Amino acid sequence: MVKVLFVCLGNICRSPMAEAVFQDLLTVKGLDEKFVVDSAGIADYHVGSSPHEGTLTKLKEHGINANGLMARQVTEEDFVHFDYIIAMDDENIKALNQMKGSQSEAEVKKLLDYLPDSSVNNVPDPYFTGDFDETYELVSQACEYLLHDIRSSQDI
Ligand code: 4NP
Repeated sequence: MVKVLFVCLGNICRSPMAEAVFQDLLTVKGLDEKFVVDSAGIADYHVGSSPHEGTLTKLKEHGINANGLMARQVTEEDFVHFDYIIAMDDENIKALNQMKGSQSEAEVKKLLDYLPDSSVNNVPDPYFTGDFDETYELVSQACEYLLHDIRSSQDI
């Protein structure tokens, strides 16, 4: 079982979008049983909330299931439980690296590190840009590459 955690700041815009998109890819490819997917936020601002309306709208437009998504904060346990911790931007990485204990073997990387030839390194935050289309396009493209990368390194 490969465990993947997507992380952003608030866990209401980008990381729940990535979680749902990645989970959808797994379902389409019949890989549900080989993975556990979740998302969490660096901050506790929105703990217990559903995703932002903009994220829900994009997921619905693409026929992607958003049931059960609820914001939570990253915990120290996540660094032991998850194999891959996939962040949306440099600020997330900085915060995650400060939290990461010496026991953790989790791979902590940015989602767009997996997108070849991308001119953008950080997933733009639509909470501030208002542009959920741009964020969705980057997230969905990068999730395909992330899955491909994990499958090759884990032999799945
Ligand atoms: P996210 O976006 O990190 O993609 O979920 C944000 C959501 C809420 C806030 C900041 C970013 N906020 O400051 O409340």
